[in-house]
Amino acid sequence: MKNFLEVIAEDVQKAFAEAGYDAALGRVTFSNRPDLCEVQCNGAMAGAKQYKKAPLVIANDVAERLAGSKTFSKVEAVAPGFLNMDLEPAFVLSYIEKMMGEEKFGVNAPEKQQTIVIDYGGPNVAKPLHVGHLRPAIIGESIKRIARYAGHKVIGDVHLGDWGMPMGQIITELKVRKPDLPYFQEDFSGEYPEEAPFTISELEEIYPFASKKCKEDDDYKKLALQATADLQNGKPGYRALWKQILNVSVTDLKKNYEKLDVCFDLWMGESDADPYIPPMVEKMKADGHAHISEGALVVDVKKEDDKKEIPPCMILKSDGAANYETTDLATIMQREKDFAPDAIIYVVDKRQELHFDQVFRCARKTGIVRDTTDLQFIGFGTMNGPDGKPFKTRDGGVLRLEHLLGQIKDKMYARIMENKELDPAEAEDTAAKIALAAVKYGDLSNQASKDYIFDVDRFTSFEGDTGPYLLYTMVRIKSILAKYQEANGALPIEGRMIPDSKAQKEVLKDMAGFPAMIADAFAERAPHKVCAYMYQMANDFNSFYHGTKILGEEDAVKQKGYIMLLRDALKIFETCTGLLGFTAPERM
Ligand code: ARG
Repeated sequence: MKNFLEVIAEDVQKAFAEAGYDAALGRVTFSNRPDLCEVQCNGAMAGAKQYKKAPLVIANDVAERLAGSKTFSKVEAVAPGFLNMDLEPAFVLSYIEKMMGEEKFGVNAPEKQQTIVIDYGGPNVAKPLHVGHLRPAIIGESIKRIARYAGHKVIGDVHLGDWGMPMGQIITELKVRKPDLPYFQEDFSGEYPEEAPFTISELEEIYPFASKKCKEDDDYKKLALQATADLQNGKPGYRALWKQILNVSVTDLKKNYEKLDVCFDLWMGESDADPYIPPMVEKMKADGHAHISEGALVVDVKKEDDKKEIPPCMILKSDGAANYETTDLATIMQREKDFAPDAIIYVVDKRQELHFDQVFRCARKTGIVRDTTDLQFIGFGTMNGPDGKPFKTRDGGVLRLEHLLGQIKDKMYARIMENKELDPAEAEDTAAKIALAAVKYGDLSNQASKDYIFDVDRFTSFEGDTGPYLLYTMVRIKSILAKYQEANGALPIEGRMIPDSKAQKEVLKDMAGFPAMIADAFAERAPHKVCAYMYQMANDFNSFYHGTKILGEEDAVKQKGYIMLLRDALKIFETCTGLLGFTAPERM
């Protein structure tokens, strides 16, 4: 179905045409002066020159034609030539009735369905998730859900860091500590054990230990480099051990992402790009794009109109090893082959912008990506602490994601137990839901590219532009619906009413804006637009709620109409929280 604004414009365009003007002048927008009108059209101003008439004359001509319109309850031509209009409540309702009858509430299937790969998460094997992993997970997940809701085929890939030096470091340290393991025996020919020779906690201790040692001890570093090379060249024992490292680590990562309600379709990693590297390098050499510079193989990617220096893209280091650019380029080849996507979206820290600029330029120049594949970098800003510096624990360390979530959950638990007797298991579940909403909404309500301050007190507040406030609003609706159902046996499935108050009309208008909001949020890859939409609607809903007796309403027909509005609003709210990646509890 058409967007709300398009339907509204139809009448105005027709009126322009009937009055002898270009119908295209009848463009309308929602008014930025709601005190004057709900909808405005500036077409008369725009047409004045073309028709050599005073704008107000044109506006009056059009207003006359709109006099009997079913769309508007008020049409005014005002000096110097604006058209100010209010919507007919019945018209607003008719749009809602149609929209709510559709599965996706007025969001149309796209003309052409796109295949989109979203690369987000980007955790590194053997390292616990920390607060730095929060943003890519939350933002990427939401962009994925929005794109999917908009009707596209979307593949979320975690793109694990599973292939570089850290792997060689871990293997080296394991060899020092457990030299007798079969993985280290050159002549071993049996089956490697099924069980990993370490736990996740050991792994998480070994990695930083080995990484530190590499910085202090050159011989150790050489061993680690050698182990990395051996692994990448396919040494069977190392490959088998690496698979164990991967398994143990991925199991733990999955558990943690699950707590965040973040779910990847693909668990591929840098290592999966490895087979694509040799043919890619050959192609780049053969086509004359890659050349040797200071021992390394590079592709020049600077352009004449560059404002800043863009260094060449390094394909192979001087020791012949692949690096971060190499794996990202080879991964593009893999994705082209597997999915032939219309777009690959990278949700990564904005400090990696130069890297992606180089990689994208190189991919285009060397033709490893089709011209029609859009490569898009969505760089997110830093999550800062209340002191304005990157978020850290009190003693300056990196905070584990599970600890951060745990702390906020405990805080929410205490809050909900303060004034209510809730079953502890339900309270646990509720606290987890509120905590997730607090964290995700706190993040997503900012434009992704901006730095923001992670302010636990603000994010967990039940008032203001916060996740908990939205949940509270939804819970309020759920509770009214439950009480109605208790008293009446069932919820109505029809009987929507023409809004009889300004507040109620505002809620309907908000709902009617849902399809346009989705289109916008998808096009701009902007979860913050979903947040802003929800917040506005929650405010309008709460104004309506505070000014209306719902359960106390004596007129049963009217009450049914209110209940229908609540049901509709809840559906829209739930769809939105689903897109942001959290859910509302039943009570709080
Ligand atoms: N693992 C990387 C890091 O920790 C992030 C990966 C982002 N995705 C990509 N395709 N490079 O910085």
